Amino acid sequence: MSIAQNTETAAKLRCIACGATPDSTGQDFRCTACGDLLEFFFPGWNFDSPLSDSASLKSLWLNRRTSSHALDQSGVWRFRELLPHIPAEHVITLREGNTPLYRVPRCARATGVENLYAKHQGMNPTASFKDTGMTFAASAAHQSGFRWVACASTGNTSASMAAYAARGNMHSLVLIPEGKISWGKLSQSLDYGALTCQLRTDFDGCVQILNDLVRQKPVYLLNSVNPYRIEGQKTAAIELMEQLAWEPPDHIIVPGGNLGNSSAIGKALVEMRELKLISRLPKLSIIQAHGANPFYRCVRELGGKKLEPKKFEPMTADTLATAIRIGNPASWKKALRVLRATGGEVEEVTEIEIAAAKAEIGADGIGCEPASAVTLAGLKKLRRSGFVKPAETVVLILTGHALKDPDFTIKFHRGDLFAGTPDATEAAQAKYLQRAPVVLDANLGAVIAALDAAERNS
Ligand code: F0G
Repeated sequence: MSIAQNTETAAKLRCIACGATPDSTGQDFRCTACGDLLEFFFPGWNFDSPLSDSASLKSLWLNRRTSSHALDQSGVWRFRELLPHIPAEHVITLREGNTPLYRVPRCARATGVENLYAKHQGMNPTASFKDTGMTFAASAAHQSGFRWVACASTGNTSASMAAYAARGNMHSLVLIPEGKISWGKLSQSLDYGALTCQLRTDFDGCVQILNDLVRQKPVYLLNSVNPYRIEGQKTAAIELMEQLAWEPPDHIIVPGGNLGNSSAIGKALVEMRELKLISRLPKLSIIQAHGANPFYRCVRELGGKKLEPKKFEPMTADTLATAIRIGNPASWKKALRVLRATGGEVEEVTEIEIAAAKAEIGADGIGCEPASAVTLAGLKKLRRSGFVKPAETVVLILTGHALKDPDFTIKFHRGDLFAGTPDATEAAQAKYLQRAPVVLDANLGAVIAALDAAERNS
């Protein structure tokens, strides 16, 4: 069967709050009527649509994996029937997506969840999940003819944007909080040629300045308030279902920062069920660091069980998981809708829990950056509360690669991560996970002694 191309053109914009349906987005991607966020929806998806033939869609997507076309080789553009239409000549792709789904047996033992998987979005071209949204939104910028693209970032969005802008012959402007992002991420945006501005503020301060800037200058905003970003990031969930032979897991667990990723994955799940690609919805749970937990507090403390928050209170965020050091997440309303739709939970985890979980994911031979490790730390809490049952299938979304933040890893293993902080005493609990490097004299006997000692302790 061939899938008609015109099904793609059915995407329309809608405001998530007042329901207005503008024909195009403004520079700040906000609804001109009420100021809230926009999203794409697909009024053309109905029972007469070629998309109602889910078996054909699934085999079309699978067959594309053997194609030599750039669009088919991308794990984002491979699923283009479920995305707004962007003409092929504007597509900027680094063959993103198609990331592995791993079993993590040690983490499974540590949590008592036998069917535990990690989908490693850190295996993308710039080593974070951002690439799936960036290929799509950068292509939209290209289609609109922009010379400059820009973002505020905790480091991964900027690395990704800089790469895609370079590939698409566009200039990129990065606003990052000075001293609060990892060197690995900063070095990427320099190497990919971005104009990189380290502002003396936090992420939330960078966002404010960027929002003002895009109203004055012809630069294209590539933060996740841009609904094209969300559409591209949906594909991680579609690909995950394909990897699980379209049998949804019971739970998907994601880190929560600006809350774009949870919104995107949740949107994809709901749309896949609408199109009968899956028969039921996994519960999507969102985990935040305790020091950057505005969404957790909104849901747990303000909203209670009914998930009806009376108000949203931004905070000054602080966590060593710098990727999610965010106090005023832009997409909190979208994420709340996802919790409601899927019946997921929201949890918070401490700095020590994050560090320990990161080392445990590393010990499974995979590794990830600190922000990604909140998923495993959160799963442990969700197991303790009984929300996740031992026989259920759980997928952790690992958002960034271990090499994104080697400073954190080295400090943890040397036992320096919490030195001089109020957490120092409690951090001793995670000592059993630390593997500090051993400095030895350059002789065979010393190495053999180290090997024997390690064998005795293993
Ligand atoms: N994990 C990593 C590694 C991240 O870089 C981010 C966000 C998140 C999780 C949270 O995802 O914001 O969609 O809820 N990083 C952004 C950035 C904010 O600028 O790189 P989210």
